[in-house]
Amino acid sequence: MNAHSLYIETYGCQMNVNDSQRIVAMLSDDRYQLVNSPVEADLILLNTCSVRGGAEEKVYNRLSNLCSLKKINKQLVIGVGGCVAQQEGEQLLERFPLVDLVFGTHTVHLLPGMLQDARHGIRRSETEFFDTEQRRDLFPATRGEGRGSQFVTVMQGCNNFCSYCIVPFVRGREVSRRAEDILEEIERLVAAGVVEVVLLGQNVNSYGIHQDGQPSFAQLLRQIAALDGLQRIRFTTSHPKDMSDELIACYADLPKLCSQVQLPAQAGSNAVLARMNRGYTREHYLDRINALKQARPGITITGDIIVGFPGETEADFEETMSLVEEVRYADVYSFAYSPRPGTRAADFTEELSKHEKQHRLARLIATQRNITLEINRSFLHTRQEILVEGIGKHPGQLSGRADSGKTVNFSGEPALIGHLVPVVITAAYQNSLVGELI
Ligand code: 5AD
Ligand code: SF4
Repeated sequence: MNAHSLYIETYGCQMNVNDSQRIVAMLSDDRYQLVNSPVEADLILLNTCSVRGGAEEKVYNRLSNLCSLKKINKQLVIGVGGCVAQQEGEQLLERFPLVDLVFGTHTVHLLPGMLQDARHGIRRSETEFFDTEQRRDLFPATRGEGRGSQFVTVMQGCNNFCSYCIVPFVRGREVSRRAEDILEEIERLVAAGVVEVVLLGQNVNSYGIHQDGQPSFAQLLRQIAALDGLQRIRFTTSHPKDMSDELIACYADLPKLCSQVQLPAQAGSNAVLARMNRGYTREHYLDRINALKQARPGITITGDIIVGFPGETEADFEETMSLVEEVRYADVYSFAYSPRPGTRAADFTEELSKHEKQHRLARLIATQRNITLEINRSFLHTRQEILVEGIGKHPGQLSGRADSGKTVNFSGEPALIGHLVPVVITAAYQNSLVGELI
């Protein structure tokens, strides 16, 4: 059999990035080799995101573009996966007659069979959700290859139904992976030279709660931290209503747990939080932040904020601004509200004008930029352990991550990639730090 070439483009969150990595590994069994440009490929896959309207538009535009490559390469197979695919299913095949296959968020493992059919002209869309009995298919393990840092999916799906969010519709209900499978995968990764794992799930705090016999997320963290050779653990994403004392205690007890937490607030006003169906108040959120800061002094906090939710008044927005200043996030991922079809908030009538949303977003970003820079400067002259991830932007530079998750660039040999090295911070900018090897 001849080797095939695969080009894959990934949109959206780390879960999609991880799914794409698993697709590449899985298809390498079918002799697919990864290439860097769509014109070189005989298989093009788009792994899509539908969390905001803009992300979805991007996918459609890109798809129209890529389909035109079929005029040059008659053998080309084009597939669409991820969240837009999950949402649209068959309709994507109708809208784009040159698309050969559509796979959803639970059906990645069906890809090899779908590809075979595609080569015989059979166009398939597979977007059913699997239940917990098929968990092994839902969470195919990575190969125990790679070095440095690796993602490990521990759960997927979401039961929270925040009123603005499409995720429960496109990722399905919460399903946790078996703890023994997670531990076995991490042991394999560590044996291959991995020093850091990033545990992934839409809602990692809910890990295990729907399945008998599984540990809680805090218990799972303790089991992972006990694995020899593993040096760092991160996880994302957490929900403030489920950020338990038990989980926060892990920050006090487990040195391997990095000093970083992603805890999306989404809004600072109780009225907006209630309409978002977030299940907590501003006071509860700040209480959890304070408990985290006590458990791990200096912990770096990042969060997500949605600006311009329907009915958000100027006073509501001011409460978001004051929350941002009070928490002192290292970084905020902020978004203008974008209505998603099928979600409850899509029916809320008090939508703000695009102009007002953009104006508030700009104010939030400006405030946060100052805080980010101040926090970055607070690292000046400190010693940091950096996990080297790759080559930096400038010649001779390496780039890696501190315990806090901050990106640090410094001069060094590529042989250091994948290793932890000590660095002293010599300059602090808006988006990164610069250091020198000690
Ligand atoms: N509009 C704007 N932002 C959204 N997010 C999720 N849904 C929407 C939406 N409809 C943001 C949230 C979430 C992040 C991944 O995307 O802040 O945490
Ligand atoms: Fe979406 Fe809310 Fe679930 Fe997060 S917790 S994935 S915002 S529904």
